[in-house]
Amino acid sequence: YVTNYRLRKKHMTAELVNVMEFQELAKKVLPKMYYDYFSGGAEDEHTLRENVEAFRRITFQPRILVDVSNVNLSSTILGYNISAPIIIAPTGMLKLAHPEGEVATARAAALCNTIMVMSFSSTCTIEEVASSCNAIRFFQLYVYRRRDVSYQLVQRAERYGFKAIVLTADTPRLGRRERDIKNKMVPPPLKILEGLLSVELDPEKGGSKLENFAAKTMDPSLNWKDVEWLKSITNLPILIKGVLTAEDARKAVEVGVAGIIVSNHGARQLDYVPASISVLEEVVEAVNGEVPVLLDGGIRRGTDVFKALALGAQAVLIGRPMVYGLAAKGEYGVRRVTEMLRDELELTMALTGCSSLEDITMSHVRTERDRL
Ligand code: FNR
Repeated sequence: YVTNYRLRKKHMTAELVNVMEFQELAKKVLPKMYYDYFSGGAEDEHTLRENVEAFRRITFQPRILVDVSNVNLSSTILGYNISAPIIIAPTGMLKLAHPEGEVATARAAALCNTIMVMSFSSTCTIEEVASSCNAIRFFQLYVYRRRDVSYQLVQRAERYGFKAIVLTADTPRLGRRERDIKNKMVPPPLKILEGLLSVELDPEKGGSKLENFAAKTMDPSLNWKDVEWLKSITNLPILIKGVLTAEDARKAVEVGVAGIIVSNHGARQLDYVPASISVLEEVVEAVNGEVPVLLDGGIRRGTDVFKALALGAQAVLIGRPMVYGLAAKGEYGVRRVTEMLRDELELTMALTGCSSLEDITMSHVRTERDRL
């Protein structure tokens, strides 16, 4: 399972014009097992397709004759200024995409003046990422049965200048990813943060090795009360990732989180949950402006970013496209993907008659709800 470096080099000079072309190139250069790991979803991959398709069913209601000679995308999240409301989602094991893994991704985030959410399942350490550049970094947390592991990582993230904890709450167990099962997806002998993957894997059980590993380590008893525990061990603001209902959004606000991320984990957990964009409006209504609401899942175009903002997201997170950028062209690729989405968003704003993010409203889009 080796990356096709020659092919990657050959394509290095090719100018790609959109995010989908990065995916095509990533598919060419990555070993199938790793491409499948990055691109796949749970079971029938219904939600995986829906995440993208649901954006296509939302159309625009542009306004004409608006002065858009200056379009301003600058944005603020938890008080941090970023160049556009587009941030990097936490994705695991980035050294499988590129030898520089999370460090290259963080550097690209710094160059683009945006936020990187570093995954708990990273292949570079907190220290390596922190010392590589001055990107604004959030740390994504899974809670393990061994609470001391999570505790120590939170302490280290805080010590090394991470600005927030993103608690991923949709993974009491790993979703059934059949591509990984078929490929017998085995994480390579890479250190995952504290060498967590050196925990003994059980090759006898069916499923992918990743699945077996997660079953042994993830704490399925994690519940709302544990958010209090998390608050007691850190002073950092906590965002909760994986909210898909108004009911859970209210609970999150009540336990005092600093923000909510509407997400179905890129359709890698429970299949047949709705596309995340389809539930955004009801979550935003339930939250009623008390905390910021962010969204991820299926964003492949600046037009998609605009649609999410119009339906009430303060910003979006981008998962797979960043990984494809990284696989195809390393740090430069992640930078290009971020810039492409930003440029497309800027053009969409101009063409819909919005010169600032505040100008983007629900009245600029037409959703299925409107058509009922
Ligand atoms: C993820 N995601 C994820 N989420 C998380 O909280 N912790 C993690 O370690 C990972 N790892 C991970 C690996 C890979 C390969 C993917 C594709 C996704 C989910 C991620 O943060 C995000 O929710 C989705 O990727 C968003 O959907 P798109 O942008 O990939 O469509």
